[in-house]
Amino acid sequence: MVFLHVSRPELVRELSLCVSLDLGKSSYMKATHQPLFGNGILKSNGDAWAHQRRLIAPEFFPDKVKGMVDLMVRSAQVLVKSWQDRADGGDASALDFMIDDDIRAYSADVISRTCFGSSYVRGKQIFDMIRQLQRAVSCSKKQHLLAEVTGLSFFSTTSSSRAAWRLNRRVRALILDLVGESGEDGDNLLTAMLRSARGGGAAAEDFVVDNCKNIYFAGYESTAVTAAWCMMLLALHPEWQGRVREEVQEACNGGGGLAPDFPALQKMKNLTMVIQETLRLYPAGSVVSRQALRELVLGGVRVPKGVHIYVPVRGGAVAGVRALAGAEAHRGAGAWRAATAQENEAQLYMVRV
Ligand code: HEM
Repeated sequence: MVFLHVSRPELVRELSLCVSLDLGKSSYMKATHQPLFGNGILKSNGDAWAHQRRLIAPEFFPDKVKGMVDLMVRSAQVLVKSWQDRADGGDASALDFMIDDDIRAYSADVISRTCFGSSYVRGKQIFDMIRQLQRAVSCSKKQHLLAEVTGLSFFSTTSSSRAAWRLNRRVRALILDLVGESGEDGDNLLTAMLRSARGGGAAAEDFVVDNCKNIYFAGYESTAVTAAWCMMLLALHPEWQGRVREEVQEACNGGGGLAPDFPALQKMKNLTMVIQETLRLYPAGSVVSRQALRELVLGGVRVPKGVHIYVPVRGGAVAGVRALAGAEAHRGAGAWRAATAQENEAQLYMVRV
């Protein structure tokens, strides 16, 4: 298995602008991740990917997202009220509480409501079970890694991988129940998938099940983790917290206490900067990977068919990758300058495993 490590900014840019279907999602760990992702949008390539992309992307076009703001605000108001009640009702220690589970629950609530419409309660149950599945799969990862690298499948038949497949069957059954209950008339991602998969038998079932799971991974964990880091950074930088608070109060009807709407969100420049800085420092996806599905040229280098391409979004989060590369695609401003000053150093590595 050959890996190409890419961390030079202009090469990362070239990769991200490449629209050729010859550059696909990496098949590395595909077998390991099969219970989690199946053949959904996050792992598919070529025409299958293009079809899923055409179906899913319109559900997240700006006009559609604008229409989701009210729903997000209502869900956030419930969360903030629960914190307010805890703070009002308890002793001083009640002011010091863990919020990451609350943020996770909020993220699940929003994505379930936006993607599953009226079936959002069932959507949240499905997300809970996918989370268990995720844990089961990561338990069996070491054995799977050996199986992937050596090609010897008996390494991967561990009890944790059997547990993952069992959980996977339960997730599938839950999703198919939900599909059975839903009509095709709503205006959300689930109904768009159902309309597209209509009359397609088992393959259509796989399509809906896999993409429900993919949306969970794409949207739920990434958003919750980013929000948690964002709040931690604001807690560490009270001056920025003050600026953002002032801006939010101002944008919401000049401090009149109204809930934000889409135009108000657009006015929140400081908050936008804070979110972008959070994503820069603590990107939810630490690696973006691709595979050359045909021979191609990248940064003037010939990349043979089959080579896996790895871009560490923040090398610090991936100690193993950093050990190989010694360079990061995306770190503090100082490190960024240092990296560009070392441009002559090789930052494009081929590693054979
Ligand atoms: C902080 C939040 C988020 C971050 C940091 C994030 C990051 C990313 C990244 C880096 C990719 C590219 C992965 C790759 O090409 O290998 C991606 C793809 C994707 N994301 Fe997000 N994402 C976030 C939120 C969401 C949300 C809320 C949704 C939808 C509910 C979503 C849906 C998707 C989908 C469907 C893809 C696959 C696109 C494709 O393959 O064509 N993401 N995301």
